[in-house]
Amino acid sequence: MNKIKRIGVLTSGGDAPGMNAAIRAVTRLAIYKGIEVMGIYNGYQGLIDGNIKQLHDRDVSFIINRGGTMLYSARSTEFREWEGVLKAKATCDKYGIEGIVTIGGDGTFRGAVDLTNAGIPCIGIPGTIDNDIASTEATIGFDTAMNTVVDLVDKLRDTSESHSRCTVVEVMGRDAGDIALQTSIALGAVTAVIKEIPTDFDHVIEKMITARKGGKRNFIIITSEGMGKDYGEELSKMIEARSGIESRFARLAHIQRGGAPTLRDRVLATQMGCAAVESLVAGQMKQVMCLRGNNIVAMDIFDALTTDKLMKGKLTREEEEAIPPNKLYEMKRIVADKQEYKNYLNYIIDHITL
Ligand code: F6P
Repeated sequence: MNKIKRIGVLTSGGDAPGMNAAIRAVTRLAIYKGIEVMGIYNGYQGLIDGNIKQLHDRDVSFIINRGGTMLYSARSTEFREWEGVLKAKATCDKYGIEGIVTIGGDGTFRGAVDLTNAGIPCIGIPGTIDNDIASTEATIGFDTAMNTVVDLVDKLRDTSESHSRCTVVEVMGRDAGDIALQTSIALGAVTAVIKEIPTDFDHVIEKMITARKGGKRNFIIITSEGMGKDYGEELSKMIEARSGIESRFARLAHIQRGGAPTLRDRVLATQMGCAAVESLVAGQMKQVMCLRGNNIVAMDIFDALTTDKLMKGKLTREEEEAIPPNKLYEMKRIVADKQEYKNYLNYIIDHITL
């Protein structure tokens, strides 16, 4: 096997705190191993446009603590077409890039599969605040985003308490309710309203009315953006109408995506960045780095995307039938474990708040 001499690194899709820590780890470990690193700016679009600069070890100094991504990010429509993928491959050939570490969410991984099919091995690192990658227990940025939510909603709770109100807070997560569920626990929220678990509003309202009679002044309800565009605002009105408790609505939006990464995200990003370089050096391609317990394990990206589709109910019957039984069993187990964990968190919220 020929030793790999030059790799690229890019970030794509929505940015996430900790992406810089991953870029740093990839760059530093690759250089340590005698491999040159090319920073690709603006995601896959930058690869098409040749927006590329070599990264030396000092170029990634003092970024482990910074939010956002020093390589910037974009969602490239051109790269979604095969022609765009071939242009990206031509850029790789021109710059002598033999493999790429791609950091981002499921859209980034679909791009990584395409680029690998075009002849450039890609290793994916899950970087998204949403935690919606089924194959890993945590994505880079998830922990920081949740801590930001906790910090902000603690402030909302202060004013909620003073005015004896309910505040309905919409958090990000795309279709995944992970941010909503875990922050609800940390915030002592009344309930988390997410797509994955139906909410019994009769029960919630009843609990709120009883708690108000018992002297409870503030009520926090966390809803995930996946519930729909105007859902949170409508929910706030409905809560007020049915419970008689004055209610306000707050959308936290992109503030959740910024800020310095937490210790947990810095460590996860560093572990995954190093593991991605090791994978490329070992001649692997089309893999995604996944956290399982305390270990980083690799999974085929296509299988990881299929598991995502299964989790999101987007896998067609034909696609499902084409999966070998042992693989399908493993995918179903991953999805069932995630759902069971969510059900458990929801159970806790229902039983110990109020
Ligand atoms: O995937 C991260 C995320 O922040 C989602 O939570 C949200 O739905 C989406 O990106 C917002 O995208 P944009 O940055 O394009 O507004």
